[in-house]
Amino acid sequence: MKQGTDSTLWLNATLFDGLNTEEQPMAMAVIGAQIAWLKPMSELSAADRSGFECIDVAGALVTPGLVDCHTHLVFGGNRAGEFEARLEGKSYEEIARAGGGIISTVRATRAASEDELFEAAKPRLQALMADGVTTVEIKSGYGLSLEHELKMLRVARRLAAELPVRVQTTLLGAHALPPEYKEDADGYIELVCKEMIPAAAAEGLADAVDVFCENIAFSVEQCERVYAAAKEHGLAIKGHTEQLSNLGGSAAAARAGALSVDHVEYLDEAGVRALAEAGTVATLLPGAFYMLRETQLPPIELLRRYGVPMALATDANPGTSPMFSLKLMLNMACTLFRLTPVEALRGVTAHGARALGLQQQVGRLAPGLQADFCLWDTKNPAELAYSVGLPRLTQRIFAGVKA
Ligand code: NIG
Ligand code: FE
Repeated sequence: MKQGTDSTLWLNATLFDGLNTEEQPMAMAVIGAQIAWLKPMSELSAADRSGFECIDVAGALVTPGLVDCHTHLVFGGNRAGEFEARLEGKSYEEIARAGGGIISTVRATRAASEDELFEAAKPRLQALMADGVTTVEIKSGYGLSLEHELKMLRVARRLAAELPVRVQTTLLGAHALPPEYKEDADGYIELVCKEMIPAAAAEGLADAVDVFCENIAFSVEQCERVYAAAKEHGLAIKGHTEQLSNLGGSAAAARAGALSVDHVEYLDEAGVRALAEAGTVATLLPGAFYMLRETQLPPIELLRRYGVPMALATDANPGTSPMFSLKLMLNMACTLFRLTPVEALRGVTAHGARALGLQQQVGRLAPGLQADFCLWDTKNPAELAYSVGLPRLTQRIFAGVKA
C-alpha cells in the first residue's frame, strides 16, 4: 500500500509501549502524526514495508514520549535564598507562615510581564523536552488574582504554540491565600469560583482546576467548592492532597471525580480505597519529597494492592522541587519510593497521560495514538531508571516529526 512521504516504519525496536516491554523486536508504522500499527519483526512482510521510509533502530529502546503531568514551571524569580534558609534549619511551613515560600514567588510573578514569564519558562520547558518530555502539564498558582492567574495561563498556552510539545494547563487559583485576603479565605475561594474559573473557562485558558488542600492552604470544604465550580464550567479536577498532613483531601477529590491526586505522602487506606473506587490516579512527586527531606513515604504498597495507577512527575517549581528532569524522577521514584523501574516508566507514560485525561491521545505506543516517542541509546528499559545522566535520548519525535 502506497503511503505519503510522511510514512515511516521504525524497525527492530525494543519497545516499551507505556505499560509493558514487548518480548520480541518490533516494527512501528507512523503515518503523519499518528501511530498506524505495530507488529513483531518476525511477522513483517515485504508488503508491510511498501510505501514507507524504513529506519532500522538496531534494537534501541523506543518508549512513548514522556508525560510530565504536574509542573509549576511558569513563575517569576527563584527561591535559592529559601533553599539556604532551609539548610540553616527553617522548615517549609515556618517559611510559608512568615510570608516566604509560595507568597514570595507570587510577588515576583505579579511583578513580571507576560513576556518576561515566557522567557523565563522557556528554558525550563526545553530542559524537560531535552529529557524526552512531549506532553507537560503547567499550573498557574503564583498569580492569585484574576489578572495574574490568567497571565500565567496565557504564558503556558504560548509555550505550546511556540515549542514542539503538548501543554495541558491547570488553574491553581486555590494554591495559597494572597495577602489581600489574609483574613478572608472564604472570600478568596469565592473569587476563585466566581471569577477565575469562569474567566479561564470562557477564554479557553484552562483544561483543569487544581487546589492545595492542606493546613497551610485550603480546607477540604473550601476545595469542594472549587471542584463544584470547576465541574459547572466543564473543567477537569486535580488536587495537591495529603502532602504535609492527612486531611482527607484525596478522598474528597476522588468523590468529586478528580483525574489525579498528587503528592499523597500522608494518604491512608481509606483514601487509597476512595481512589480505587473513583479510578483516580495517584501522582507521586519524589522531587518535592527529596527537596523537603520528607520522611513519610507515600503508601506505595497500598496503592499497588488496590490497583491505583501511579503517575510520576517533576512538580517542577521554585520552592519544593526546582527539578527540570523527568528522567531523574525515574531514579528517585525507585530509590526513594521503591517503585520498580517498570512502575516508574508507566508513571511517566501511560499513567501520566491518564492523570491528564489524555489516555486516548498520548502515553502509549498503540494504533491511533499521537506519534510521540523517544529513542534511547540502550536496549534495557530499566536503565532509564537505574542511571542518572545516561542513557542518552537519541531522537525525540513529536506528532510524527523529529523535534
Ligand atoms: O507542589 N504543594 C504546594 N505547591 C507546590 C509548591 C509550590 C512552592 O513551594 O512554590 C508543590 O509542592
Ligand atoms: Fe505541585
